[in-house]
Amino acid sequence: MQQVQVGLIGGGTVGGGVWNALSRNGSLMASRLGLGLEVAGIAVRNPGKTRAVSFPSRRVTGDWRSLVADPKTQVVVELMGGTTTAREVVVAALRLGKPVVTANKALLSAHGEELFREASRHGTNLYYEASVAGGIPIIKVLRESLVGNRVTRLAGIVNGTCNYILTRMQLEGAAFGDVLADAQRLGYAEAEPSLDVDGHDAAHKTGILASLAHGFWVKPGQVHIEGIRHISQLDIQFAARLGYTIKLLGIVKCLGGTGAPRPASKGKGSGGACSIQVSVYPALVPRSHVLASVNHAFNAVAVRGDVVGDTLFYGRGAGADATASSVLSDLADAALDLKNGSHRRVPPFVAHEGNGRVVPLSEVVSRYYVRLSVVDRPGVFARIAGILARAGIGISSIIQPEGHAGDTVPVILMIHDAPNAAMQRVLKQIAALAVIRAAPVMIRVEDLE
Ligand code: NAP
Ligand code: HSE
Repeated sequence: MQQVQVGLIGGGTVGGGVWNALSRNGSLMASRLGLGLEVAGIAVRNPGKTRAVSFPSRRVTGDWRSLVADPKTQVVVELMGGTTTAREVVVAALRLGKPVVTANKALLSAHGEELFREASRHGTNLYYEASVAGGIPIIKVLRESLVGNRVTRLAGIVNGTCNYILTRMQLEGAAFGDVLADAQRLGYAEAEPSLDVDGHDAAHKTGILASLAHGFWVKPGQVHIEGIRHISQLDIQFAARLGYTIKLLGIVKCLGGTGAPRPASKGKGSGGACSIQVSVYPALVPRSHVLASVNHAFNAVAVRGDVVGDTLFYGRGAGADATASSVLSDLADAALDLKNGSHRRVPPFVAHEGNGRVVPLSEVVSRYYVRLSVVDRPGVFARIAGILARAGIGISSIIQPEGHAGDTVPVILMIHDAPNAAMQRVLKQIAALAVIRAAPVMIRVEDLE
C-alpha cells in the first residue's frame, strides 16, 4: 500500500496526540483511505526532553529545516505554535510544493493571506481544521457543507480554556487562578495563557470563521476583543438569578447591507456583501439557549444559514485527542489530494463578494447587564437613572439585594438596546459620581434569538 510520509513539526500536547492517534487508528485510516500515513520525523525544540509521549528517538530531531526539506517528507504538519518560526516552517514547506497541515490559529490570523498566496503560487494546499474549535469539524462545515448558504449569524464558544474556567467558577465557586492552572495541566491552554483568558485566541478563531463565512479576510485588528479576567463570582451568581449563564462568545453577525438576511418569501438573494459584527466578549446567554449548557472544555458553534436555518456543532474544543482528530482529518485530505493529484480541490480560502465591512463595535446595538458598587444612601438610584434617561437609554430591571454588609451595595441594572458607544459614555458619567465606589462592570446580553 502507498505510504505518505509526514513530517511533524512540534511534539507537544497536539503533536503527542497526533502520534498516539495515528498509532491507535493508523491501520483503520489506511483501510479507509487506501493509503498509509507514516510519521517520518518529529522536530522539536529540545530533543533531549523527557516527554509524556515516547517518540522513537531515531525519528526525533532538533532541526526542522532538514525535516521539511527532506525529499521523503511529503506532508508537513506544523504544531509548534507562535507566529515567527511557525511562519518560516509553513512558508518553507509551501515553497517546496508540500502540503501543510496546521492547528495554528494565531499564525493564520496574522499571516493567513500571505500563506494562502504562497500555497496558490506553489500549486499546493494549506489545511487548518484543527485551528478552530479543536475536534469540531467547523472549517469543513463552512467551506463545504454550507457552501450553498449565506451565513447570517454565527455564535460560538470557541475557547476551551475560558469555557473550562467559567464553568468551574459557576458550578463549584472555584477561583479563577486555580482553575487556569488546571486548564494548563490538562493541555487546554496556550503556551502563553493570556492568549486564552484575554480573548485573543477566541478572536483569532472568530476572525477565521468570519472570513470563511463572509469571503474577505478579517484582520486581527478588526475583531473587538474582551477577555474574562473581570468576570467575578458575584456576576456569575447575579446572572444566574436573572436566568442567564456567562459565556465567552465569538460573534459574527450580519447587520445589514446588500447581503443582509432576507425572508425566504422574498425569493432570490440580492447578492453582494453585508456589514458584519466580529467580536469576542463574555456575554449573558439565556439559560434556555443550548450554548448555555456547553460546559468545561467543550466548544459549540451555532451557525444560521439562509437556506438551512439554525445548525449547531458541538464537541471538545481543546486538548490532545480532540485536536488530533482534526489534524488526522486534514492529513487524510492532504494524502488523498496527493494521491489523486487534486491538491487544490478545496482551496484554503476563497474571497467572494469582496465588499464586506467589519462594523466597529461602538456602532453595534446590544442589551447590557451592569453591576455598580454604590453607597447605600437615598437618592442614588435617581441620579443613575437620570444619567441614563438623558442619554435616551432605558432600564429594563433593577436589583439591589438585601443583606450586604458595609456602606456599599451592589446594584444590578439590566439595560434595553443601546449602541455600545452611547453605553460607554454613560458608564463614564456614572463612574464619576461620588456615590460610585468601584469601576462599573458591564457585560453584554446576547439573547441569540
Ligand atoms: P506545546 O505543547 O507547547 O508544543 C509545542 C511543540 O513545538 C513542542 O514539542 C516544542 O518542542 C515544539 N517547538 C516549539 N518551538 C520550536 C522550534 N523553534 N523548533 C522546533 N520545535 C519547536 O503546544 P500545543 O498545545 O501542542 O499547541 C501546538 C499548536 O496547536 C499551537 O499553535 C496551538 O495554538 C494549537 N492548538 C492547540 C490546542 C490544544 O488544545 N493544546 C488545540 C488546538 C490548536 P519541545 O517539546 O522540545 O519544547
Ligand atoms: N487554548 C485553546 C483553547 C486550544 O483553550 O481553546 C484550542 O484551540
